[in-house]
Amino acid sequence: MQYFKLDTLNTSYIFEVMDSGHLQQLYYGKKIANPCEITPLEEKLGTSLGTTVAYSAKFPTLNLNNLSQEISTSGKGDYREPFILVKNSNGSLVSNFLFSRAEHISNFELDELPSSYAKTDTLAITLTDKGANLDLILYYSTFADCDIITRSAKLVNNGEKTIIIEKIASLQLDLPYANLDMTTLDGAWGKERQITKRTAQIGLTQIDSKCGISSNIHNPFVILSKQNTTDSVGDGYGFNLIYSGNHKETCEVTIHNKTRFMTGISDFGFSWTLQSKASFVTPEATMVFSDLGTNGISQQYHTFVNEHIVRGVWKNKLRPILVNNWEATYFNFTQKKLLDLAQKASSLGIELFVLDDGWFGKRTDDTKALGDWYVNKSRFPDGLSGICDKINKLGLDFGIWVEPEMVNPDSDLFRSHPDWAVTNPDYDYSLSRNQLLLDYTNKDVRDYIVTRLTDIFSSANISYVKWDFNRPMSDFYSPTLTNQGEFFHKYTLGLYDVLSRLTKKFDKILFESCASGGNRVDLGMLCYMPQYWCSDNTDSCDRTKIQEGTLLAYPASTLGAHVSACPNHQTLRMSTIDNRFNVASMGLLGYELDLNKLSNNDLKSVKEQISYYKKYRQTLQYGKQYKLSSIFTSNLSSFIRVSPDKQTAIVGMFYGQAITSPPSDILKLDGLEDATKYVVTTKKQSFEAKQFGDLINIALPHLANNPIFKMVIEHGYSLETECEKYTSYGDLLCNAGIKLYQAFSSSGWNETVRILTDYGGRLYSVEAVKDKQK
Ligand code: DGJ
Repeated sequence: MQYFKLDTLNTSYIFEVMDSGHLQQLYYGKKIANPCEITPLEEKLGTSLGTTVAYSAKFPTLNLNNLSQEISTSGKGDYREPFILVKNSNGSLVSNFLFSRAEHISNFELDELPSSYAKTDTLAITLTDKGANLDLILYYSTFADCDIITRSAKLVNNGEKTIIIEKIASLQLDLPYANLDMTTLDGAWGKERQITKRTAQIGLTQIDSKCGISSNIHNPFVILSKQNTTDSVGDGYGFNLIYSGNHKETCEVTIHNKTRFMTGISDFGFSWTLQSKASFVTPEATMVFSDLGTNGISQQYHTFVNEHIVRGVWKNKLRPILVNNWEATYFNFTQKKLLDLAQKASSLGIELFVLDDGWFGKRTDDTKALGDWYVNKSRFPDGLSGICDKINKLGLDFGIWVEPEMVNPDSDLFRSHPDWAVTNPDYDYSLSRNQLLLDYTNKDVRDYIVTRLTDIFSSANISYVKWDFNRPMSDFYSPTLTNQGEFFHKYTLGLYDVLSRLTKKFDKILFESCASGGNRVDLGMLCYMPQYWCSDNTDSCDRTKIQEGTLLAYPASTLGAHVSACPNHQTLRMSTIDNRFNVASMGLLGYELDLNKLSNNDLKSVKEQISYYKKYRQTLQYGKQYKLSSIFTSNLSSFIRVSPDKQTAIVGMFYGQAITSPPSDILKLDGLEDATKYVVTTKKQSFEAKQFGDLINIALPHLANNPIFKMVIEHGYSLETECEKYTSYGDLLCNAGIKLYQAFSSSGWNETVRILTDYGGRLYSVEAVKDKQK
């Protein structure tokens, strides 16, 4: 019996070619290092069950409905979700793909689609459907360093007639268990990637996207884990798709205790005409197994993204601290106002200035000018190079915002090319944020955009570009297509064409993707743009959840996080500048508020924050992350990020609501070296004395009745929070942990009490004691 065993550092994946020619999935899990005997792994097919279909006269007990397979088809007795559904040239929906051959390919890449790189090996298995004259090639690539295996498929029409692909997935995994927990990242605008965990029940559990992009509704990332798997122990499988369009993930559990997981392009509105001799390639899907709980899965995905997805000059490079003028000014800016902001930013140690929406055409609000990619000369008489030079002289790099997939009906572009917008001839168009989508299935549109942006990006010393996308798709239709079922995928291919041309041409620019915040955060976009704007919601309490969800799948080195104004513009919630920083420091730090309106106390804090972030930036952005506790299941979200040499670590703790009579907090670390001695130190924070209100006489009894001091307090006298410092070996810190100072609970405050209030947080640095200090 021929079988295939794919090994990574810690995992094995095994399947075989059955006598019938089907590929039977045999095992995926912890590495099997000894010589492999596959008979114990095979499904035993001694007798057939009632109401099942016998595959053929030659294989009368082969019942595909209860067989773990590499790919499933329709019309031969498997009534679960099919991997592939093809309307053959005679109109039938029957497929029968059987093994033909296998080969190894080096440096494998997908046509037209973004894919991972530096693969250890790729195995290509060709299956043939003789009845329909089709080949289906399954690609399996391994990444030994991070235990990831990727999968994709190519369907080749060898017949003389056209066929229609109704559905084709990228990855199917048939597991021989039920009762798996399924974790997904779900949300909406301002509430992206909230963690949902449920036990997959008999039948189908499905997430998908139907709005043309990967979406904030359901991210394509999924975890299936055995019951009782925790952050640090237990078996789990992670999956993600390298694709930015409509996707679908299904988890199907049967009465026979089997679980079928599938991911790929969504079949919603999908149908693809495959001409004779043509082929169709599916996006690359990724999977990982870890017995180290969900942290094991996250860590492998973080490595995978940093090593095999993000590419070019920004790979593994420290990301700059930026200031963005959006929430500081919205559309209401002058060049002077921007330069004042840049001047202040530079004095605080910020490195990059980002000019957001409103610098082009007649764009002075969000009703007009999208599509008119010409600098607004009344706002910037010397063009982008004029303002860019001035910003550069202040010691800052310069970046701009664009939204090149959109057009406002009130724009010169729409007036001259109404046919370039996505509208449907049978209906009035539907707007979202006053805008329409540009038809990227049309090469003329793509060429025009590439030309305009090439002009813009070459017109000044631009080192960063924020690429926005602010509406979901509607009115799906393109006059360029004869089969409208190809609209969504051809749009995504068109987008990748534009991105690949521009990012190759401007290979030094740091691109950040954005879609009303985090509406298109996926591995496809990360192949072109090394980072994304995680959410328009910068409220530190909401961000704690959004970031915890996002970090489950994507590394900190990709996650844009800004300190914004107080009260927060999305929630009107108040929080201290240090709390806002603490949360933002878990991603790529930026400031998005009018720095010139900050109090002197806050400015002092910002300056300290920036130097603290710079000191620990390498560990914060690229350290190995261990989640210590989750805000989705407790009142605390906490993480530690550890440098590869385990000499430095940073801990972030982010609380939910303040609790009276709080339990004692134990800070139990992870990932440190047992026999290394570390110093753990709280990052000092400040808070305003007036926060105590009437309790000031408890907090500062010796001063509270002094009238002058009362006045000073009213004007923002600030106090420092506690500073804990411990020296201990890694084994104690990780196995026992530190009992932290008590949290404030009405009865008194001094420098050994932690003031947290609602959604408060702390950062702790963890530094190895150098030899001579020991
Ligand atoms: C939506 C983005 O998410 C914001 O950060 C900002 O860039 C606006 N678009 C500008 O229109």
